[in-house]
Amino acid sequence: MKIIIAQDYQELSERASQIVIGLLANKPDATLGLATGSTPVGLYQKLIEKYKKQVISFEKVKTFNLDEYCELAQEHPQSYYSYMHHQLFNHIDITEENINIPRGIGDELTLLCREYNEKLKAATIDLQVLGIGNNGHIGFNEPGTSFDQETFIVELTPETREANKRFFNSIDEVPRYAITMGIKNIIAANKILLLASGVAKAPAIKELIYGKINEKTPASILKKHPDVTVVLDREAASMIK
Ligand code: PGA
Repeated sequence: MKIIIAQDYQELSERASQIVIGLLANKPDATLGLATGSTPVGLYQKLIEKYKKQVISFEKVKTFNLDEYCELAQEHPQSYYSYMHHQLFNHIDITEENINIPRGIGDELTLLCREYNEKLKAATIDLQVLGIGNNGHIGFNEPGTSFDQETFIVELTPETREANKRFFNSIDEVPRYAITMGIKNIIAANKILLLASGVAKAPAIKELIYGKINEKTPASILKKHPDVTVVLDREAASMIK
């Protein structure tokens, strides 16, 4: 794993954007795996800036998102569909048919899961952007998830619901289930870019870097991947030497 330690969140976002821009310069029709949450917001802002300055275009880019809450309609302000459109897609030249976000609502969730998995397997993700949970999760693959897991419906841990409560009025509004790419789908990407910011992530980063490859820490599987770049700010890196 290549580890980059940035001074602060701004620099982390800039370094991450340079990696994405470098890929798009070589491959304008790249397929990106995208993440939600607080961490990639700065990266997406930088990508919008570079698009507006005509440094990059997303016209031929395809995207696949990691996950989506169940129980929330797409238009709910906290759905990841809304997040992606507000934070990135509405501000760039990507075409709607090139955007893939799992659907977490409907009578046929098992079928939706299978369909998303089939789409993923037919695609090759050139670069997968990841955050990391305080508990070491990637996507919504919570501790204990098999490394062989493909797209599935997951029951979120109390810890993850608590961490995501800040986006909702109360804990009761935080969905209990989500649809997520499995670990097997994630590590099929050609390149992985994991971002972590803030002191709350320091223990998970310490475990990722010094711990054993272990299903209790889903992110630990990344040590087996040949092309992973981890971009941290100083706080997230505060427990590593
Ligand atoms: P965050 O979430 O970026 O909001 O901290 C990361 C994650 O849970 O994977």
